[in-house]
Amino acid sequence: MKTEKKLSQKEQKALVGKAVIDRLFERGLIKSGMKIGLGTGSTAIIAVEHLASYIRDGKLSDVKAVATSFQTHITCEENGIPVYTLNSKEIAGKLDLSIDGADEIDPDNNLIKGGGAAHVQEKIVEYNTKRLVIIADESKLVPHLGTKFPLPVEIIPASRGPVVREMEKLGASCILRSCAGKDGPVVTDNGNQILDCTWQALPDGSSPVNPAKMEDRVNKITGVVENGFFTKNKPLVFIAHADGTVEER
Ligand code: 5RP
Repeated sequence: MKTEKKLSQKEQKALVGKAVIDRLFERGLIKSGMKIGLGTGSTAIIAVEHLASYIRDGKLSDVKAVATSFQTHITCEENGIPVYTLNSKEIAGKLDLSIDGADEIDPDNNLIKGGGAAHVQEKIVEYNTKRLVIIADESKLVPHLGTKFPLPVEIIPASRGPVVREMEKLGASCILRSCAGKDGPVVTDNGNQILDCTWQALPDGSSPVNPAKMEDRVNKITGVVENGFFTKNKPLVFIAHADGTVEER
């Protein structure tokens, strides 16, 4: 529904985090008994909490979740959502649905993720799910990927020097991500480090990067665990706008 007042980014995240659960439930795309992957970040957590309210109210039962980070796991524990690993016999390596946020979304619904350093587990979960749903505020829509929000690349710490050299050969500049609550680099939920990699835009403002090709290429570098391009499981995307509407594409 359109609003007179312009919604802030935080308000848009709250709007889309709730709307996604309401709409998927109305359409029977979230059902009791489903195995659901739950994403990481401020938008995804709103959806997790709203999903929990459906379970508490008895509208959904026997939901089995796989969390993509410690943040999400803890939120599930606090809200009574049962969490399993992808390897458990209950999940058996395959999910019905996953819901997550994104850092950037291009017109073909290719994504950059990993702003919260959780893209390794997010990709494992989201490439093993039948239906991927991405939720975001309108600031995440971009014409192309790779030149503004840096591509997060999770690396084995001992490989940092060689990986930086290989990324530079691919035209990227890399910065080792620093931690806010600790001196030194971010240590991921998997015990690794993050390189944030950016390409310079072409003179016409477009990107020199083909996200699908670069996703594969970066993962060939020894020492890279996974990168934040998500191009292989095309999502349904829900975008909240400042005017209070939620667009689907
Ligand atoms: C975490 C992610 C997040 O989904 C992404 O950073 C978006 O976060 P937010 O919803 O807080 O803007 O990929 O690794």
